[in-house]
Amino acid sequence: MSEFDWASTTDEVLEGKDLSGRTVFVTGANSGLGQETARALASRGAHVIMAGRDQSKLDESVAAIHADHPRAQLDTITVDLTSLENIRAATSRARQRFQKIDILINNAGVMATPFLHTADGFEMQFGTNHLGHFALTAELMPLIERGHLKRIVNLSSRGHFMGPVNFEDPNYQHRPYDPWTSYGQSKTANVLFTVGLEQHFAVLGIHAYAVHPGGIETNLGRHMSPEMRDGLMQRVTTSDSNFRWKTIPQGAATSCWAATADELEGSGGVYCEDCHVAEVDDESQVSGVRSYALNPSYAERLWALSEQLTGAKFPS
Ligand SMILES: NC(=O)c1ccc[n+]([C@@H]2O[C@H](COP(=O)([O-])OP(=O)(O)OC[C@H]3O[C@@H](n4cnc5c(N)ncnc54)[C@H](OP(=O)(O)O)[C@@H]3O)[C@@H](O)[C@H]2O)c1
Repeated sequence: MSEFDWASTTDEVLEGKDLSGRTVFVTGANSGLGQETARALASRGAHVIMAGRDQSKLDESVAAIHADHPRAQLDTITVDLTSLENIRAATSRARQRFQKIDILINNAGVMATPFLHTADGFEMQFGTNHLGHFALTAELMPLIERGHLKRIVNLSSRGHFMGPVNFEDPNYQHRPYDPWTSYGQSKTANVLFTVGLEQHFAVLGIHAYAVHPGGIETNLGRHMSPEMRDGLMQRVTTSDSNFRWKTIPQGAATSCWAATADELEGSGGVYCEDCHVAEVDDESQVSGVRSYALNPSYAERLWALSEQLTGAKFPS
């Protein structure tokens, strides 16, 4: 049983940990939960590689972290998850610049976008949140294999309750687009990818964890109109009368916990929330993980589909 809970913060979860000599790669590290995750891990001595698609935003985040922690060991790398070509170029640079990755945190994400497409023609949310991270992780695997901790954390969401992955039409070519079912599909894919990683790589000592961070006010809501925001808040507060926002340090705590907790050593393929491993629950609106998100055969199916769509190949 974890000693931490809903209210725990990054600094509380990491208290007493010495991460010196550890290298952590965080996507979406220039904003919200990613920046706080980078800050907190760097404050415990980790070398943090902060990935983002805009160098000037990354520079601002580095400056903000250095203002609090002047000795933080930070590097930046630009990568745009909406382009397979950009991902391949960025990860090739990463393999030249860095020796290893101990912890990969696939944190970047977009939510409730209009019907847009990535450079490779994938629907924007599935393409960015899942396929981009699938290709990135495949390309970074040689560095993860050389790491000591060998953990991969995938940011999912309770939004995965909105539905499973539609294997027949993941890119909304033959069904009406809906920004919320699309977000839900991409966040279910993040959990299934976690299960797939565990199925393929636990044998090499590499373990993966999906994380629901809670509800936190960040830049994630930038694509919502005021009406969409009102509708979302109504749905959330109707299904969870106790709903409260977390602070950003509370929101990033479960990522930091999944990345470092001793009690998770040697076993992954799970979904974590509020700094513990969640129970499977197909009814609750307020906690737990849906069984379709942990289904091992759906995980294999998504793995094959993602390989086919991206052309990315994990080392066998
Ligand atoms: N906040 C919540 O309540 C909540 C709840 C459940 C799950 N989550 C998950 O938590 C994760 C972090 O979200 P957040 O709340 O911290 O949101 P955020 O402040 O908007 O941060 C998202 C990050 O992802 C980056 N990103 C977006 N598209 C990208 C792309 N194509 N290539 C590279 N980076 C890209 C953003 O970069 P730019 O600044 O350049 O756009 C930003 O750094 C997401 O995966 C989200 O789904 C959040």
